[in-house]
Amino acid sequence: MKLTDRVDAARRDGPLHRLDKKVPVLPSVARMTEEAWLGDEDRAAAPAPVADAQVPAPAPAPVVDPLAELKERAAQELFVRIGTRLNDASLSEEQLHSYARAELGNIVAAEQVPLSPEERTRLIAEIGADVLGFGPLEALLADVAVTEIMVNGHQQIFVERAGHLSLSDARFTSEAQLRRVIERIVAKVGRRIDESSPLVDARLADGSRVNAIIPPLAVDGSSLTIRKFAREPLTVKDLIDFGTLSAEMAQVLDACVKAKLNIIVSGGTGTGKTTLLNVLSSYIPPDERIITIEDAVELQLQQDHVIRLESRPANIEGKGEITIRDLVRNSLRMRPDRIVIGECRGGESLDMLQAMNTGHEGSISTVHSNSPRDAIARLETLVLMAGMDLPLRAIREQIASAIDVIVQITRLSDGTRRVTHVTEVQGMEGDIVTLQDAFVFDYSAGVDDTGRLRGHAVATGVRPRFADKFRDLGIPLSPSVFQANLVTRDKR
Ligand SMILES: Nc1ncnc2c1ncn2[C@@H]1O[C@H](COP(=O)(O)OP(=O)(O)OP(=O)(O)O)[C@@H](O)[C@H]1O
Ligand SMILES: [Mg+2]
Repeated sequence: MKLTDRVDAARRDGPLHRLDKKVPVLPSVARMTEEAWLGDEDRAAAPAPVADAQVPAPAPAPVVDPLAELKERAAQELFVRIGTRLNDASLSEEQLHSYARAELGNIVAAEQVPLSPEERTRLIAEIGADVLGFGPLEALLADVAVTEIMVNGHQQIFVERAGHLSLSDARFTSEAQLRRVIERIVAKVGRRIDESSPLVDARLADGSRVNAIIPPLAVDGSSLTIRKFAREPLTVKDLIDFGTLSAEMAQVLDACVKAKLNIIVSGGTGTGKTTLLNVLSSYIPPDERIITIEDAVELQLQQDHVIRLESRPANIEGKGEITIRDLVRNSLRMRPDRIVIGECRGGESLDMLQAMNTGHEGSISTVHSNSPRDAIARLETLVLMAGMDLPLRAIREQIASAIDVIVQITRLSDGTRRVTHVTEVQGMEGDIVTLQDAFVFDYSAGVDDTGRLRGHAVATGVRPRFADKFRDLGIPLSPSVFQANLVTRDKR
């Protein structure tokens, strides 16, 4: 059957506009499809927006898109015609859309398929969303319940909702479509992904953090991981409600930040380190000058006096890289009251420790490790990465004198994220850094009916030495928060 005949048949058999209506589109793309993509004459001809995108029609028989072939062909042709401009960061979104719209108009006209003005409008809008939008990711990005999107090759997309992973129905039609989306995402922030640099960190316009890695490194097809940006960052109240920390512990951490202790948040991947760092940073008094340093900006501080710095990878000629380490060094010349480093993962750890030891107290950062003791070992390794050939003992001394508190956050067996340790770094004994837990998670409380751990981190009864600092600085904190609450424990 010829394509024109099929279009005619579809016109007879059912309304074309039912096609592809399942997927809600992002506001940005909706704007694009509804406005930018329509020429004046199209706008006049366009049907009034229909509300049926959200309200599912009463189970229509599955319709095969008679225009699918035409759409695919036109999309391909559009790629050929606008080529590199698609990822040209110097073109504004508006310029790109108007350029692509003009080309697409020509392409559809050249196809010589008889289309009504409504069909033509819709066709152009749909191809535009495929080519210029994020394809099947649109719906997931628009869904506020989804906090993380993991694309494992074009046929498998996992999402995280409320801390739980599930396989989504969405999928890309081909590896090529997935690659186009990845290229669009990274090109928008002036980065690139290809054979010679097959992995990249990027950010979406809304601040969501993106990592992409393509074959041959990703053996089974391109992989894309998106940590969606929380428009409303989690607050300390949220963390208390989730059971991540207790109100008392929050008071202690507040006092630690106000007393300008140097704090390391330690945790595994995705345990909530950045979220907790954000919460701790919110305790910094508003009259202090804060410099944040990150690989990809994620922190959302509410204070006015904040300077945000972001590292930069090398350009296509391998030049121009600015590392976290460069930024930490530079920040020391920016008269910071506080330096907040998103994550220590290399030689910058040495510069951070030195800064902490030389009058820049009150700095906060995170490291990737599974216990407070592990955090010390991890910092040792990271300092060695600075390449200064320091003896281990000297490194440990630096760590012991710089870091005051380690806050360990862990994702427990029930899927919840909890602060499991608040640990004081006391100093050195022989060659060992001495640690003293002030709070530890109480596993003995067991689990409730839903399998959720009942316990929370409880005071060990050892009053940390840093509590003296609270007293000296007049920071109010009841000494009872450090007392082991034996009464309630016995009651259980
Ligand atoms: N206490 C919490 N309870 C429930 N969900 C949380 C909590 N903290 C963070 N999250 C959610 O978990 C996800 C990961 O959080 P976050 O980015 O802070 O982790 P991370 O440890 O910094 O991860 P990474 O190792 O990838 O940098 C986010 O979607 C966040 O909203
Ligand atoms: Mg993080």
